[in-house]
Amino acid sequence: MRTAILISGRGSNMVSLLAAMAAPGYPARPVLVLSNRENAGGLALTGSVPTAVVTSRGREREAFEAELDRVLVAHGVEFIALAGFMRVLGEGFVRRWQGKMINIHPSLLPSFRGLDTHARALAAGVRLHGCSVHWVSPGVDEGAIIAQAAVPVLPADDEAALAARVLAQEHSLYPAALAMVTGGQPMLPGGDGALACGWAP
Ligand code: GRF
Repeated sequence: MRTAILISGRGSNMVSLLAAMAAPGYPARPVLVLSNRENAGGLALTGSVPTAVVTSRGREREAFEAELDRVLVAHGVEFIALAGFMRVLGEGFVRRWQGKMINIHPSLLPSFRGLDTHARALAAGVRLHGCSVHWVSPGVDEGAIIAQAAVPVLPADDEAALAARVLAQEHSLYPAALAMVTGGQPMLPGGDGALACGWAP
C-alpha cells in the first residue's frame, strides 16, 4: 500500500513508522512525507523517502486541501497516516480519503480529544492514560478506534514525564496498527490478536 505520512513537527512517530516499513513483508510502503510547515523538524529525518511541503498558514482551507490532494495523487498515494499533523482537515477532504486515513492521538479516546491531552489527564486525576490510533472521520478525534496502548499515571508525573511515557507507546503502537489496517494482519509485539499494548516498567 503506497502510503504518505503527514507531519507538522519533530516527526518521531514518522521515524518509527519509516523504520517499521523498512522491514521485509511490512504491508505499507512510504512514498511521501508531507508537511504543512516548511520548518518541520521531521522533514530532515526521512532518509530516501521523498518530501513535500504544502503550506497551510494563511490560506483558505479549500485551496490548501485541494493542493494537498493534488500532491498526494501525483505521488500515487493510496493510504495516509497522520503523525502529528496539526491542521484540522475539512469534511470534503476527509470524506474523499475516508477508510484510507488514520491518525495517532495521545490519549485513550474518547477521553481528551483535542490538544494538551497530558496536562488535562493530570488535571483530571486519571490513573490510566495512553494513546489511540483511529480512523479519521469528519469529527475531530472522533473516528473509530483501531488500537490503544495504556500507561499508568504515576504520582510524581509532570506533563513531560507523562508525555514521554505515552510517546514510547505511540512508537510501537502506530506501526503495529498501520500494518494491521493496510495488510489485514495483526503484527504485534509479542503476538497476534487484539490490538492493544501495555506498559512494562
Ligand atoms: C504525538 O504525540 C501524536 O500523538 C500527536 O502529535 C504528536 C506528534 O509527535 N498527534 P511527533 O511529531 O510524532 O514526535
